[in-house]
Amino acid sequence: MPISVKTDSITEAWRTLENSIIFYRKRPIGTVAARDCQRAALNYDQCFVRDFITSGLLFLTQGKTEIVRNFLIETLALQSHEKQMDFFKPGPGLMPASFKVDIVDGKQVLIADFGEHAIARVPPVDSCLWWIILLRAYVKATKDISLAYQPEFQQGIKLILDFCLVHRFAMYPTMLVPDGAFMIDRRMGVYGNPLEIQVLFYAALVAASELLLPDDSGVHLDTINRRLAALEYHVKEYYWIDINRLNEIYRYQGEEFGKEVANKFNIYPESIPNWLTEWLPETGGYLAGNLGPSQLDFRFFALGNLMAILVSLASEEESQKIMNLVEQRWDDLIGSMPMKICFPALEGLEWKIVTGSDPKNRAWSYHNGGNWPVLLWLLVAAALKTGRVELANKAIDVAQSRLSQDEWPEYYDGKNGRLIGKEARKYQTWTISGFLMAKELVANPAHLNLISFEKDPDMITCVN
Ligand code: GLC
Repeated sequence: MPISVKTDSITEAWRTLENSIIFYRKRPIGTVAARDCQRAALNYDQCFVRDFITSGLLFLTQGKTEIVRNFLIETLALQSHEKQMDFFKPGPGLMPASFKVDIVDGKQVLIADFGEHAIARVPPVDSCLWWIILLRAYVKATKDISLAYQPEFQQGIKLILDFCLVHRFAMYPTMLVPDGAFMIDRRMGVYGNPLEIQVLFYAALVAASELLLPDDSGVHLDTINRRLAALEYHVKEYYWIDINRLNEIYRYQGEEFGKEVANKFNIYPESIPNWLTEWLPETGGYLAGNLGPSQLDFRFFALGNLMAILVSLASEEESQKIMNLVEQRWDDLIGSMPMKICFPALEGLEWKIVTGSDPKNRAWSYHNGGNWPVLLWLLVAAALKTGRVELANKAIDVAQSRLSQDEWPEYYDGKNGRLIGKEARKYQTWTISGFLMAKELVANPAHLNLISFEKDPDMITCVN
């Protein structure tokens, strides 16, 4: 592709991103999900908390910290203290899925949706976790901890923690959630302990431990540390799949009773899907999609795995194995557009039972094995963190050749992502900011610092 075309698409992307900014009482506070004039807006004219994370991080790389600060302040003000839905009150601490600016009595007000308007009334569990992660990135970018130390922010973080750490009917240190509680916000068999939520939970706990002032009792920090250790062990030990582990599961005994047993979750070897034994490369591995009683979801979910690399929940060796898998199964996981949201798709009877015959989530479409360009920046970030620069560049080249020409679709369909998503919005903001963020990361890998979780001396000086 000639250089001028590339430059034009980048200029266009920046312009479109600028035009997606929402203003509230004259201050920039977020970005709309999409600006597609061809389709009904539904709630795509709102600012989604999870979608803004990509734009927010990108703005931070540009020194545009004000919009991120305003977003953090306004979403905190919206945080649920007591929200009612059909007379049921979900716990305080929940952050909205999305919000919009409205006019009431001639004054601008923000109206939040906590899932009470969303299709199928799904609760956005990931919003509050992403919020803490973005707050940490803001502190890192500005080197200004004072915002996070404000009493309202400390209170907000504690509310989120109370909400997430509350005792549930659960035996595991992971967070138990209903179906569709995150980026996959439709029924997709992702209820229980889905990987994406657990990785975000882990990152949010680490971030909270960095951002919280030790209060009088130190109760929160103590609880966080204990939960973090248990969560880390649980995910590393039981979600990880590679050929050795698969061999272990294949020879598992069932129905073991008591404490010291190998097959703690009573996974039946017959549940290993046929595709996996051939698909899993010798030098590859990944974290499974979900773990519950007699349930190991063997599907590969991109966001959870890439974030696990970034937040160092995956060890260095595991991170390399995840990247090996991406490299060796490139056609399946990247194909014509980085990257597949999950692999493989649910088909036939399984699709009917698991999704409730959802026509939007037919095999190889949308959440059910579609390709989502927003995942490009996470792939690039994970590739840079693991020193696999060639993979980062290769993925950007694939995306660059299509995105602008296809008008920045929300997702792509088909086994290899060759078709523009059947119902995909065009000019989807996180597609645009994800592409720009990927370019920024390659140009300046130091930006990884915003989303990377190591034991970071910077943060310690900043916080103490
Ligand atoms: C769809 C996606 C969700 C996203 C929203 C706005 O509902 O599933 O993850 O936040 O669109 O882009």
